[in-house]
Amino acid sequence: MKKITSALVALGLGVALSASVQATSNDEAVAERIKAVGSVCIEGDDTCGGAAAAPAAASGPRSGADVYTAKCASCHAVGVAGAPKFGTSEWTDRAGKGMETLLANAINGINAMPPKGLCADCSDEELQASIQHMIDSAQ
Ligand code: HEC
Repeated sequence: MKKITSALVALGLGVALSASVQATSNDEAVAERIKAVGSVCIEGDDTCGGAAAAPAAASGPRSGADVYTAKCASCHAVGVAGAPKFGTSEWTDRAGKGMETLLANAINGINAMPPKGLCADCSDEELQASIQHMIDSAQ
């Protein structure tokens, strides 16, 4: 009889335990479900937000010099395959064609000059700025 009682107590305890475990995980599940979707960070409060609250890095068009260095210099710095060379009068000659023509040829490519100078993500504005940068380099 004693054995049965303790077995029942153990059983009861086990049920109670598992019930409370169940309750805990339910509470957590509820807390997870009803938690705030976001939080408000007041401007000037450094204790919250962190990097996310910092103003986005300056985007917008890259400068002609930046685009030239990153994308065009590989050919135009030394004159690969007849590319008009940076810092030389070759650009004075090209400038005679007018920016409209130069830009169109840069966008579409001309002879060994690949379309957009291989800068697929360059806007027309950025291409024009980099062309101007090369024209300005002419001596
Ligand atoms: C793979 C090499 C290469 C790259 C990279 C390159 N160019 Fe060129 N580019 C050339 C060559 C070669 C020519 C000469 C084409 C010709 O007139 O026969 C040229 C010519 C030009 C011309 C003169 C077009 C004309 O009508 O006379 C412009 C403008 C120009 N490139 C702009 C750019 C710009 C802007 C970039 C960077 C975004 C760039 N290029 C990147 C090879 C290149």
